[in-house]
Amino acid sequence: MFRFCLKGVIVRLFLAPGITYICWHPFRCPPAFVQGSDEMPENIIDTLKQEHEMVLSILSELISKGISGREQKYATLKENLMPHLIGEEQILYPKLKEDADMRDISFEAVEEHSAVKTLLGQLDSVSTSDEEIWVAKIKVIQENVSHHISEEEEKIFVQMQRKMSSDELSSLDSQYKEAKKSVIPVAAQ
Ligand SMILES: [Fe+2]
Ligand SMILES: [Fe+2]
Repeated sequence: MFRFCLKGVIVRLFLAPGITYICWHPFRCPPAFVQGSDEMPENIIDTLKQEHEMVLSILSELISKGISGREQKYATLKENLMPHLIGEEQILYPKLKEDADMRDISFEAVEEHSAVKTLLGQLDSVSTSDEEIWVAKIKVIQENVSHHISEEEEKIFVQMQRKMSSDELSSLDSQYKEAKKSVIPVAAQ
Protein backbone atom coordinates (compact mmCIF):
# COMPACT_ATOMS: atom_id res chain seq x y z
CA MET A 1 0.00 0.00 0.00
CA PHE A 2 1.39 3.43 -0.97
CA ARG A 3 0.11 6.68 0.41
CA PHE A 4 1.05 10.27 -0.17
CA CYS A 5 -0.48 13.69 0.14
CA LEU A 6 -0.08 16.51 -2.39
CA LYS A 7 -1.18 19.94 -1.18
CA GLY A 8 -4.17 18.48 0.62
CA VAL A 9 -5.12 16.11 -2.19
CA ILE A 10 -4.64 12.54 -1.19
CA VAL A 11 -3.89 9.85 -3.69
CA ARG A 12 -4.05 6.34 -2.39
CA LEU A 13 -3.12 3.19 -4.19
CA PHE A 14 -4.31 0.03 -2.50
CA LEU A 15 -2.45 -2.92 -3.91
CA ALA A 16 -4.34 -6.11 -3.15
CA PRO A 17 -3.74 -9.44 -4.86
CA GLY A 18 -4.78 -9.09 -8.46
CA ILE A 19 -6.14 -5.57 -8.19
CA THR A 20 -4.99 -1.98 -8.12
CA TYR A 21 -7.47 0.21 -6.37
CA ILE A 22 -7.34 3.98 -6.65
CA CYS A 23 -9.34 6.58 -4.79
CA TRP A 24 -9.14 10.36 -4.39
CA HIS A 25 -9.88 12.33 -1.26
CA PRO A 26 -9.75 16.04 -2.05
CA PHE A 27 -11.24 17.39 1.17
CA ARG A 28 -9.17 16.24 4.08
CA CYS A 29 -5.95 14.64 5.03
CA PRO A 30 -6.06 12.06 7.86
CA PRO A 31 -2.88 12.11 9.97
CA ALA A 32 -1.99 8.60 8.82
CA PHE A 33 -1.62 9.77 5.24
CA VAL A 34 1.03 12.45 5.55
CA GLN A 35 3.66 12.26 2.87
CA GLY A 36 6.27 9.62 3.43
CA SER A 37 4.59 8.15 6.49
CA ASP A 38 4.03 4.42 6.78
CA GLU A 39 2.32 4.77 10.13
CA MET A 40 -1.01 3.05 10.47
CA PRO A 41 -3.73 4.53 12.69
CA GLU A 42 -3.36 3.39 16.29
CA ASN A 43 -6.75 4.50 17.44
CA ILE A 44 -9.67 2.20 16.67
CA ILE A 45 -11.87 5.07 15.54
CA ASP A 46 -9.34 6.20 12.92
CA THR A 47 -8.80 2.61 11.79
CA LEU A 48 -12.51 1.92 11.38
CA LYS A 49 -13.15 5.21 9.60
CA GLN A 50 -10.33 4.46 7.17
CA GLU A 51 -11.88 1.06 6.44
CA HIS A 52 -15.32 2.63 6.03
CA GLU A 53 -13.96 4.94 3.34
CA MET A 54 -12.50 1.99 1.49
CA VAL A 55 -15.72 -0.04 1.62
CA LEU A 56 -17.93 2.88 0.56
CA SER A 57 -15.61 3.66 -2.31
CA ILE A 58 -15.77 0.10 -3.67
CA LEU A 59 -19.55 0.04 -3.25
CA SER A 60 -19.89 3.30 -5.17
CA GLU A 61 -18.20 1.60 -8.11
CA LEU A 62 -20.22 -1.59 -7.86
CA ILE A 63 -23.61 0.17 -8.04
CA SER A 64 -22.84 1.36 -11.57
CA LYS A 65 -23.84 -0.70 -14.57
CA GLY A 66 -21.37 -1.60 -17.31
CA ILE A 67 -18.23 -1.60 -15.16
CA SER A 68 -15.37 -3.99 -15.86
CA GLY A 69 -13.98 -6.46 -13.37
CA ARG A 70 -17.17 -6.62 -11.34
CA GLU A 71 -16.42 -10.05 -9.86
CA GLN A 72 -12.95 -9.04 -8.74
CA LYS A 73 -14.20 -5.77 -7.27
CA TYR A 74 -16.92 -7.67 -5.41
CA ALA A 75 -14.31 -10.09 -4.05
CA THR A 76 -12.27 -7.09 -2.88
CA LEU A 77 -15.34 -5.65 -1.20
CA LYS A 78 -15.88 -8.86 0.77
CA GLU A 79 -12.19 -9.16 1.63
CA ASN A 80 -12.40 -5.72 3.21
CA LEU A 81 -15.92 -5.74 4.60
CA MET A 82 -16.21 -9.17 6.21
CA PRO A 83 -13.12 -8.92 8.46
CA HIS A 84 -14.28 -5.42 9.42
CA LEU A 85 -17.71 -6.66 10.48
CA ILE A 86 -16.36 -9.69 12.32
CA GLY A 87 -13.60 -7.69 14.00
CA GLU A 88 -16.13 -5.16 15.27
CA GLU A 89 -18.38 -7.96 16.51
CA GLN A 90 -15.55 -9.72 18.33
CA ILE A 91 -13.79 -6.73 19.86
CA LEU A 92 -15.70 -3.46 19.61
CA TYR A 93 -19.30 -4.32 20.37
CA PRO A 94 -18.74 -6.66 23.34
CA LYS A 95 -16.83 -3.77 24.94
CA LEU A 96 -19.48 -1.17 24.12
CA LYS A 97 -22.28 -3.39 25.42
CA GLU A 98 -20.70 -3.06 28.88
CA ASP A 99 -21.69 0.62 28.84
CA ALA A 100 -25.38 1.10 29.61
CA ASP A 101 -25.56 4.17 27.36
CA MET A 102 -24.22 2.30 24.35
CA ARG A 103 -25.72 -1.12 24.95
CA ASP A 104 -28.90 -0.74 22.89
CA ILE A 105 -27.23 0.89 19.90
CA SER A 106 -24.54 -1.81 20.00
CA PHE A 107 -27.12 -4.58 19.75
CA GLU A 108 -28.75 -2.68 16.88
CA ALA A 109 -25.40 -2.34 15.10
CA VAL A 110 -24.72 -6.07 15.32
CA GLU A 111 -28.17 -6.76 13.87
CA GLU A 112 -27.34 -4.42 11.00
CA HIS A 113 -24.17 -6.43 10.41
CA SER A 114 -26.26 -9.57 10.31
CA ALA A 115 -28.60 -8.05 7.71
CA VAL A 116 -25.68 -7.03 5.50
CA LYS A 117 -24.13 -10.51 5.73
CA THR A 118 -27.45 -12.07 4.76
CA LEU A 119 -27.75 -9.75 1.75
CA LEU A 120 -24.18 -10.57 0.69
CA GLY A 121 -24.99 -14.27 0.96
CA GLN A 122 -27.98 -13.77 -1.33
CA LEU A 123 -25.90 -11.80 -3.82
CA ASP A 124 -23.32 -14.59 -3.93
CA SER A 125 -25.90 -16.79 -5.64
CA VAL A 126 -26.61 -14.25 -8.41
CA SER A 127 -24.42 -14.25 -11.51
CA THR A 128 -22.76 -10.93 -12.31
CA SER A 129 -23.89 -11.50 -15.91
CA ASP A 130 -27.43 -10.94 -14.66
CA GLU A 131 -26.50 -7.31 -14.21
CA GLU A 132 -29.90 -5.69 -13.60
CA ILE A 133 -30.67 -8.00 -10.69
CA TRP A 134 -27.07 -7.93 -9.42
CA VAL A 135 -26.92 -4.13 -9.37
CA ALA A 136 -30.35 -3.87 -7.71
CA LYS A 137 -29.11 -6.13 -4.93
CA ILE A 138 -25.79 -4.35 -4.45
CA LYS A 139 -27.64 -1.02 -4.23
CA VAL A 140 -29.66 -2.36 -1.32
CA ILE A 141 -26.43 -3.54 0.29
CA GLN A 142 -24.87 -0.11 -0.26
CA GLU A 143 -27.88 1.60 1.35
CA ASN A 144 -27.65 -0.71 4.35
CA VAL A 145 -23.89 -0.27 4.72
CA SER A 146 -24.10 3.53 4.30
CA HIS A 147 -26.80 3.76 6.96
CA HIS A 148 -24.81 1.57 9.31
CA ILE A 149 -21.60 3.53 8.83
CA SER A 150 -23.43 6.80 9.47
CA GLU A 151 -24.78 5.39 12.73
CA GLU A 152 -21.32 4.28 13.77
CA GLU A 153 -19.52 7.47 12.86
CA GLU A 154 -22.17 9.98 13.92
CA LYS A 155 -23.43 8.31 17.08
CA ILE A 156 -21.23 5.46 18.34
CA PHE A 157 -17.78 6.85 17.63
CA VAL A 158 -18.79 10.23 19.02
CA GLN A 159 -19.71 8.60 22.32
CA MET A 160 -16.55 6.50 22.31
CA GLN A 161 -14.45 9.60 21.78
CA ARG A 162 -16.16 11.24 24.73
CA LYS A 163 -16.05 8.28 27.11
CA MET A 164 -12.83 6.42 26.35
CA SER A 165 -9.23 7.41 27.02
CA SER A 166 -6.65 7.42 24.24
CA ASP A 167 -5.10 4.33 25.87
CA GLU A 168 -8.41 2.47 25.70
CA LEU A 169 -8.91 3.45 22.06
CA SER A 170 -5.37 2.37 21.26
CA SER A 171 -5.77 -0.94 23.08
CA LEU A 172 -9.03 -1.64 21.25
CA ASP A 173 -7.24 -0.86 18.00
CA SER A 174 -4.57 -3.49 18.70
CA GLN A 175 -7.14 -6.08 19.71
CA TYR A 176 -9.25 -5.33 16.65
CA LYS A 177 -6.32 -5.68 14.24
CA GLU A 178 -5.30 -8.94 15.91
CA ALA A 179 -8.84 -10.32 15.66
CA LYS A 180 -9.05 -9.41 11.99
CA LYS A 181 -5.94 -11.43 11.16
CA SER A 182 -7.65 -14.64 12.15
CA VAL A 183 -10.83 -13.99 10.14
CA ILE A 184 -9.32 -12.82 6.84
CA PRO A 185 -8.79 -16.29 5.30
CA VAL A 186 -12.34 -17.34 6.13
CA ALA A 187 -13.98 -14.06 5.24
CA ALA A 188 -12.29 -13.87 1.86
CA GLN A 189 -13.86 -17.12 0.70
FE1 LIG B 1 -17.76 -0.20 10.92
FE1 LIG C 1 -20.16 -1.98 11.93
